[in-house]
Amino acid sequence: MQNKPKRMGGRAGVGNRVREMLPELQIVRPNDMHVHFREGAMLQSVVPYTARQFCRAVVMPNTKIPITTTDIAKKYKQEIMNCVPEGATFDPLMMIYLNSSSNPDDIAQGFNDGVIFGAKLYPANATTNSQYGVSDISEISDVLSVMEQIGMPLSIHGESVDKNVDIFDREAVFIEKTLTKILNDYPNLRVTMEHITTVQAVEFLKSGGDKLGATITPQHLMYNRNDMLVGGIRPHYYCSPILKREEHRLALRELATSGFKRVFLGTDSAPHSIDNKECACGCAGVFSSINALEFYAQVFDEENALDKLEDFTTNNSNSFHMLKPSDEFVQLIKSGNIVPKTISVPGKGQLLPLCSGEIIPWRADYELNQKCVQSIG
Ligand code: DOR
Ligand code: ZN
Repeated sequence: MQNKPKRMGGRAGVGNRVREMLPELQIVRPNDMHVHFREGAMLQSVVPYTARQFCRAVVMPNTKIPITTTDIAKKYKQEIMNCVPEGATFDPLMMIYLNSSSNPDDIAQGFNDGVIFGAKLYPANATTNSQYGVSDISEISDVLSVMEQIGMPLSIHGESVDKNVDIFDREAVFIEKTLTKILNDYPNLRVTMEHITTVQAVEFLKSGGDKLGATITPQHLMYNRNDMLVGGIRPHYYCSPILKREEHRLALRELATSGFKRVFLGTDSAPHSIDNKECACGCAGVFSSINALEFYAQVFDEENALDKLEDFTTNNSNSFHMLKPSDEFVQLIKSGNIVPKTISVPGKGQLLPLCSGEIIPWRADYELNQKCVQSIG
């Protein structure tokens, strides 16, 4: 429970031009439990967007040279901190990329020293830079045993990589064939099903115990596969797991806005340059971090569930992972907001954000975090 009660209310419009009261609410600074920062110029460009909204973020380790050891994680964390605007309170939670050479002693040491937050399981070749991932769970059984003992959380990209499994069925097959076995073999392991996309994942999560959680992205709450494929291919909606049928999107919205405690915000914001998205074999990933909080607010508002927003964005992940609530707040105001068309990344081209150039209803007010705003410009 937060000390300070959340407030919902209204405020007079900007200047004297808008006279009606604008809906607004204040939430404890949230957690992004799944984000991709990349490295180099991309890292520098995208970190400030996450740092202005979120008090912490779980940083995915699928960089070009993956984050496989505590030492690499320590260096990467420093690179991230160098990109956090001065004055912002932001804590990157570092993840280790599991593979057949993962060293349980190194991972346990990194966790006990507070360098590493958790570990990520990528089935080999499931998604971006996952070619070094895990082909068979038995490869990492000693690591999973240690993680279970020391209370270190595991995040899973839950998709089957069997080439005979249809892309739209990959999540359901992974749950049935692999996730069930992991949970049976390691009953005390804290597991997050990342970016869930299907009715099957929703039902599996609900039937699971208190050690099983899940994240949901904005795009899987907002769009279905028709949005991506009807009337032409829209590569900026292409991500992994792929967008599903409408019935799945509706199940995700129902779960997220229901007040269920083991589901939480994880944007999976995954920047790829426009050139790498709009080509013959485009990369998977939606870049959403600029306006992430506003997208979730829009969904909760559409579902008449704004009173549940702070649970999803903040309280549920704090409880599940025993994280200390931030003492800072973010104000959300329904005053309209224009998403930038593109973002330039020096030497790397342009990024196209989710809802590029669109007017969206909600705006996060970062006045408590003015330095971040100035640094982004
Ligand atoms: O769409 C995705 N993009 N899904 C992932 O799991 C990885 C991510 C990326 O790193 O590009
Ligand atoms: Zn991801």
